[in-house]
Amino acid sequence: MIRIEHLGIAVKDLNAAEAVYARLLGVAPYKREAVEREGVITSFFQVGPNKIELLESTRPDGPIAKAIEKRGEGIHHVAFEVDDIRAEMARLKAEGFTLLSEEPKPGADNKLVCFVHPRDANGVLVELTQERR
Ligand code: CO
Repeated sequence: MIRIEHLGIAVKDLNAAEAVYARLLGVAPYKREAVEREGVITSFFQVGPNKIELLESTRPDGPIAKAIEKRGEGIHHVAFEVDDIRAEMARLKAEGFTLLSEEPKPGADNKLVCFVHPRDANGVLVELTQERR
């Protein structure tokens, strides 16, 4: 793994949260992007070499809506940049981690992504993210 690429934060109201994080970080979000298959709309802030991804659910039964129902708003996942997502998925599988998809999936921000089950990482939902090329 190369570095922490972004932190994903689950929010109820993307407009309101964007205003808060713009004030907090002192920069405007650089991109909004819907990932309709995942039922989310995302907003990205660049913070030095890292990013903050705000996530709002687009449907009441989406994963972000469910997470907020269970645990309230807050940090939802930690995303690690990887060079070769398939190799990293194979490595983690061999290490006994449960992957939430068999194949990398198209994510926001021109990425391929795969999630690791939080029960295997002390309650943290881990995202692997690789630039699409
Ligand atoms: Co993410």
